[in-house]
Amino acid sequence: MIKASDLIITPATTFKEKPDPSGLVFGTVFTDNMLTIEWSLASGWEKPYIKPLENLSLHPASSSLHYAVELFEGMKAYRGVDGKIRLFRPSLNMERMARSARRATLPCFDENELLECIRKLVEVEKEWVPYSTAASLYIRPTLIGTEPSLGVKKPTKALLYVILSPVGPYFASGSFNPISLWADPKYVRAWKGGTGDCKLGGNYGSSIYAQREALELGCQQVLWLYGEDHQITEVGTMNLFLYWINEDGEDELATPPLDGIILPGVTRQSILDLACNWGEFKVSERYITMSDLTAALEENRVKEMFGAGTACVVCPISKILYKGKHLHIPTMENGPQLATRFLNKLSDIQYGREDSNWTVLVS
Ligand SMILES: Cc1ncc(COP(=O)(O)O)c(C=O)c1O
Repeated sequence: MIKASDLIITPATTFKEKPDPSGLVFGTVFTDNMLTIEWSLASGWEKPYIKPLENLSLHPASSSLHYAVELFEGMKAYRGVDGKIRLFRPSLNMERMARSARRATLPCFDENELLECIRKLVEVEKEWVPYSTAASLYIRPTLIGTEPSLGVKKPTKALLYVILSPVGPYFASGSFNPISLWADPKYVRAWKGGTGDCKLGGNYGSSIYAQREALELGCQQVLWLYGEDHQITEVGTMNLFLYWINEDGEDELATPPLDGIILPGVTRQSILDLACNWGEFKVSERYITMSDLTAALEENRVKEMFGAGTACVVCPISKILYKGKHLHIPTMENGPQLATRFLNKLSDIQYGREDSNWTVLVS
């Protein structure tokens, strides 16, 4: 198994210039070092290395390139107001990564040991964690099949690697920019029995075509629908929340249930945990269809709708293009009070303004 105590650390001796985080385009700048761990069926996991970032050398038949035998994760390291660097609920990312690995027939690993290797990598790269409470260091663990054969089968060789990328503020202006969505059932992100609840590369590559059409229609992201009844599932690469007065007249925060087509987001879980803990309104994992939403809009029962994910924490939704009509969502008119409260609470924890057992110290 992977053992953090076996780490061989030979860091870069030349350093790239660190950019100003405010001007960064997501995922375009990488730090000086990476973590790599090779696996083979014959020998299991090799020793982990932290070494200068370099191109990979892969056999052209590698199964990740042909059959998308590949998975990834997305998490962040934050530099707190006290100067300490923290990870946010990283064990949830490790759990999700292990689940994705099982689904992709990639090798399993010890989640705690991998997390410790990642923690070490961030420690080596700590100067790359932006000195800003509006920016962070994005962590991209990746596991790819490197089986050098064209057979469609469980790989006998794999490579786990982790790269790091400083990222700037999601909302450049410092305040929320609400997004517009395109909802059309002709494209489906995930389906029952598929892989939508795992973070496999194939789910994302195949979504770009619909995203491009959304942009052509003047919308920023896709609202992914599912089924004959047009269930609302996710938005772009975020989980979706609706804060409304439900059909029974109750104040409710609702998000679709984890029924196999929803990616179990760390932010989603955190929002549910916080809201349940506050106990101020009903919190539900339930189905929401487009007709539920349009009826609620007509009856003025919708308060806020927002996406939730590591990239932005929460992202307000102001408009949905559905069946040729623009539906106005009054998220911004309503504050957005609840979305702002989640953003503040989660960033307070991430940037160490508030103590929480949700964070893990890097250094
Ligand atoms: C499809 C999808 N939904 C939701 C999320 C949000 O998950 P998290 O909160 O863990 O970033 C992501 C991002 O990882 C995603 O790719």
